[in-house]
Amino acid sequence: MRILITGGAGFIGSHMAKSMLDDGHIVTIVDDLSTGSLSNIHDLIKQDGFQFVRENVCNIPTMTTLIQCCDVVIHLAAAVGVQLIVEKPVHTLETNIHGSEVVLALANKFHRRILIASTSEVYGKSTAIPFNEDDDSLLGSTRFTRWSYACSKMVDEFLALAYHDQDGLEVIVGRFFNTIGPRQSGEYGMVVPRFVRAALRNEPLTIYGTGEQQRCFCHVADVIDAVKRLMVCETAIGQVVNIGSENSITINELAENIISMCNSTSIIRRISYEEAFGQPFDDMLIRKPDLTKIKQLISYEPKHSLEQTLRHVIEFERSILAQSR
Ligand SMILES: NC(=O)c1ccc[n+]([C@@H]2O[C@H](COP(=O)([O-])OP(=O)(O)OC[C@H]3O[C@@H](n4cnc5c(N)ncnc54)[C@H](O)[C@@H]3O)[C@@H](O)[C@H]2O)c1
Repeated sequence: MRILITGGAGFIGSHMAKSMLDDGHIVTIVDDLSTGSLSNIHDLIKQDGFQFVRENVCNIPTMTTLIQCCDVVIHLAAAVGVQLIVEKPVHTLETNIHGSEVVLALANKFHRRILIASTSEVYGKSTAIPFNEDDDSLLGSTRFTRWSYACSKMVDEFLALAYHDQDGLEVIVGRFFNTIGPRQSGEYGMVVPRFVRAALRNEPLTIYGTGEQQRCFCHVADVIDAVKRLMVCETAIGQVVNIGSENSITINELAENIISMCNSTSIIRRISYEEAFGQPFDDMLIRKPDLTKIKQLISYEPKHSLEQTLRHVIEFERSILAQSR
């Protein structure tokens, strides 16, 4: 198959591209390198069947050619990361809404099957744990910038489902929960790479809030496995599907585990969300997926434990640190 991956030079996209190439597919990625990087796709550039197009997904002529020339689209391009969203709210809304508008309209025009990446953020502050795809969303006030990301992804979901219902577009909405693994950037507020980098340098690990908030982290390889199998699952068409891990951990425990696994002398410090982001911030205490639907659709079961996943991240960050010395 000819696969187009938007945001393919990003964290999840670069792993997706490699996995698809390894399966023998022809892969084109389109990425403007706003948060992604050439180093993420360095090993792929010379491979047969791989093409990189540096472009914004809002560029209609380029996207028309790319979507016309592929069989399926995996739409990952987005403004991602709490830090980025808080610092660049207009960019976040424009990228996530307009970018998806362009990609979905063209996928619809050329009848291309498409999977779009949504997020567990759309559940907002809901306390109905675990989060089921049909649950109500509970977003905070528009005064809190962080909800603009969730809202932009909800608009993407509505549009994707509207094309499915109205025109029969073969669309699958993946609601990704916290995904981690080698190559994830810590620059835009992602907690695991940020903690690992600090621990390897014996610098303080900074927790935002009390640290009692719980998250479920999933290895990027397990997310990619799920996406690949959902893409060829006929009963997944027109569905919204949670993708992630059910194993939860508090941010305090996560920090302690990382310090211990890195044999680090780092201390833990806590700051308020306001100190971290320079503005009031609304957070959810527990974020956990209900995986009943994905288990029914593709017998999904994540294969990596959190410890294995953290080891992969630590090994990767150690190698980057060694190269920089
Ligand atoms: N990583 C997670 O934990 C997580 C959780 C939920 C949802 N997601 C979703 O998964 C997708 C991939 O996330 P990621 O973690 O790999 O983030 P990432 O920032 O590493 O990847 C996003 C990629 O999109 C590119 N991009 C951004 N705007 C673009 C534009 N207008 N045109 C072309 N390229 C553009 C960036 O340069 C980057 O390479 C996103 O849609 C994100 O919302 C990720």
